[in-house]
Amino acid sequence: MYTAAPLNSLKIGLAGLGTVGCGVVEILQNHKSLLVQRTGRTLELVAVSARNQDKSRNVDISAYDWTDDPVSLAHNPDLDIVIELIGGESGPAKNLIEAALTNRKHVITANKALLAHHGASLAKLAEENAVALAYEAAICGGIPIVKTIREGLSANNITEISGILNGTCNYILSVMEETGRAFEDVLAEAQAKGYAETPPDLDIDGIDAAHKLCLLAALGFGGTPDFASLSVTGIRHITARDVQQAKSENKCIRLIGKTYLNPEGEVKSILTPEYVPLSSPFAAIKGPQNAVRIVAAPVGEIVLTGAGAGRGPTASAVIADLVDIARGHIFPVFGKSQTNR
Ligand code: HSE
Repeated sequence: MYTAAPLNSLKIGLAGLGTVGCGVVEILQNHKSLLVQRTGRTLELVAVSARNQDKSRNVDISAYDWTDDPVSLAHNPDLDIVIELIGGESGPAKNLIEAALTNRKHVITANKALLAHHGASLAKLAEENAVALAYEAAICGGIPIVKTIREGLSANNITEISGILNGTCNYILSVMEETGRAFEDVLAEAQAKGYAETPPDLDIDGIDAAHKLCLLAALGFGGTPDFASLSVTGIRHITARDVQQAKSENKCIRLIGKTYLNPEGEVKSILTPEYVPLSSPFAAIKGPQNAVRIVAAPVGEIVLTGAGAGRGPTASAVIADLVDIARGHIFPVFGKSQTNR
């Protein structure tokens, strides 16, 4: 465990002004006094960066310093914290986070791909520099699953975490089930509604959900992300006939990610479409919703459900991390020290 140096006003740089980035700006502008009440300090957005300064956005960013180079935020001596909402497992997002942590700036990110592939080294870098690397927004959007596992269940021995971790896939499967429509048809609708990644292969091949599962495994079992160890099958080949077959057996199909300890004490993580009985809590999850079930002792079983993506829910998770940092709550990234095991 390590603690942050005390600060008064917290000065923030934000890289990425897409759907979630604009949602973050909106909360910082509209909930200013609420956030002062909750943290005892001012959360001051100072500088922003995105690909195109002139793009029309539904938030006013004119009060903030603009930079075309996101990595320069990591070298800005005025900033205490950098929020990375660029995305991608390499390139500017990785360069920015590495430079910010090295320069002792707290980092908040929604970047599940980056953490699934480089989480171990980034967590070590954060810890060595005594700063936060916070990522509540990377797993299941608005569901506070990182805090639930890492803080709320810290007294527990977790034996299994399973869930519906991708809204696009759940939308496709549940709409196919309700309407009998074909996979491609419903996928096009999910894209039109803005649920899917670009390209949607990341969703339908299970990669997006697998990134989240990889982080849940690290959190639940106190390790570090090991994406190569996951077994991953997506929903690309599910047909209307498969969905009808499940129905005829009083079941439905859901893309389920599961991580657990096997009898040898090894962590196993599998993502695959499953036939789920209608009595399962997962059968009730429809549309782009997500759900996570945790089995732990002594608490028993917990199921959390909610919006797994979208502007409001994901920005809400980013701000929750910001509030933690403002309160001086800096947690070991995956629940255990990386340097002092
Ligand atoms: N495309 C993702 C989903 C967005 O559908 O869940 C959040 O990772």
